[in-house]
Amino acid sequence: MKKSVARIALAIVALSLASAASAQVKPEDQIKFRKAGYGFMSWNMGKIKTNLEGTYDAAQVTAAANAIAGIANSGMGALYGPGTDKAVGNQKTRVKPELFQNMQEVGKLAGDFNSAANNLAKVAASGDAAAVKTAFGDLGKTCKACHDKFREE
Ligand code: HEC
Repeated sequence: MKKSVARIALAIVALSLASAASAQVKPEDQIKFRKAGYGFMSWNMGKIKTNLEGTYDAAQVTAAANAIAGIANSGMGALYGPGTDKAVGNQKTRVKPELFQNMQEVGKLAGDFNSAANNLAKVAASGDAAAVKTAFGDLGKTCKACHDKFREE
């Protein structure tokens, strides 16, 4: 009896999670979340850079690389919905309007970024600092490639 109640409760939780995941995120929140994601990746990129320039702590680098890959794989494209091409509410944005007219190119840049982030996480797990340095540089290039095209100064 107790067991089935728990199972029903779990099913309800699963259902509400599913609807929360598919619920439309307000444009204002889409901008907020994407900026937060980029900012959080940037913090982790900084940690990896510090490790590469100083004492290399493989555990910290792996954790940072995994955090970046997690965000890269989270489907950030969903945060570029209609109405997010300019400031909404109290959320400013630096996205260039061109991004919304060039989704195919954005998809390519995002794909490169995704692969590079996953590669960095893989290489970080190996603990090979020299290889991490290369993978880190490769990832940084994919961030810059998108910014150069689709982010305001
Ligand atoms: C596919 C395009 C794309 C990729 C890849 C990308 N960015 Fe960005 N980034 C943007 C855009 C567009 C903005 C502006 C977002 C906004 O203001 O709404 C931005 C904003 C930022 C910001 C400012 C966030 C804020 O609070 O305003 C930082 C920091 C940043 N990106 C870091 C990174 C890092 C680090 C990477 C790679 C690990 C990366 N980005 C990869 C497109 C990209």
